Amino acid sequence: MEPFDPTRPNIARVWDYWLGGKDNFAADRELAEKMLAVHPVSARMARENRQFLGRAVGYVAACGVGQFIDVGAGLPTAVNTHDIARSVDPKARVAYVDNDPIVISHARSLLAKSPGVIAVPGDMRTPERILADAGLTELIDLAEPACVILSAVLHFAEAGTARDVAAVFARAIVPGSYLIISVGSGSPSEGENFTSAYTAARIYIHSREEILSFFDGLDLVPPGVVPVPLWRSEGAALDGQAPTATFIGGVARKQRKQRKQRKQRQQRQQSRQSRQSRQSRQ
Ligand SMILES: C[S@@+](CC[C@H](N)C(=O)[O-])C[C@H]1O[C@@H](n2cnc3c(N)ncnc32)[C@H](O)[C@@H]1O
Repeated sequence: MEPFDPTRPNIARVWDYWLGGKDNFAADRELAEKMLAVHPVSARMARENRQFLGRAVGYVAACGVGQFIDVGAGLPTAVNTHDIARSVDPKARVAYVDNDPIVISHARSLLAKSPGVIAVPGDMRTPERILADAGLTELIDLAEPACVILSAVLHFAEAGTARDVAAVFARAIVPGSYLIISVGSGSPSEGENFTSAYTAARIYIHSREEILSFFDGLDLVPPGVVPVPLWRSEGAALDGQAPTATFIGGVARKQRKQRKQRKQRQQRQQSRQSRQSRQSRQ
């Protein structure tokens, strides 16, 4: 767990400041403002990402999934994962996970008051431990479809680690489950300005190909991996302004084995037929 130190800027509290929250200290506000000078759309990208998260959770809940594991959940904000999920399915269950003790204590006092919502301390870099947590396994039944959320957190790990983290979660969920991912991205020069100025943690700028690999083995829901303001937003930009492209993300579904096997059989049949028709033409 990250130690609590109000004199040093902190990931969750800087993000909270950009989202318009009040759970931050002077050191966080100072860094958040400095980042706005380096990258003026920083606060906007945080809000756009939150909106993406809302649409993605709403989509997955509407697909009939009622269990969510929100990893790197962040400080409670205006609209949280369980608010969105429960607007579709009032019985939806949510486990918030974070490695910041302040996030966990705020989540426990503000969010986890209602049955079916818990906050679990955990580090995404040890996903097996998160999945084995006694509180989490009591709430989330991994034998049933579930949705794992990794929103705005995988850029705190280098690409190989981020891929491994996503792969462990993808393996742990059953067919019919979903994975929601969004990651900070951007051009190399823009990215370097941002990462060198941001002192709350080390940030890794992942390429689109690397981000696509985080979904390996799963079926991407259309429109695939795109700048988050464009994911099923029907072009609605925040405050009517042009969207930024600093965060990209997507939603993927774990396919049922039978469908996967049927698809593989169809592909084999198609290639056999085209081979036979080539041979008969020769
Ligand atoms: C940028 S905030 C994103 C919050 C929220 N997911 C969202 O999309 O608005 C990143 C969050 O991830 C948490 N975090 C960073 N590294 C983590 C790790 N290794 N394991 C778990 N949580 C982590 C931070 O404490 C912070 O709350």
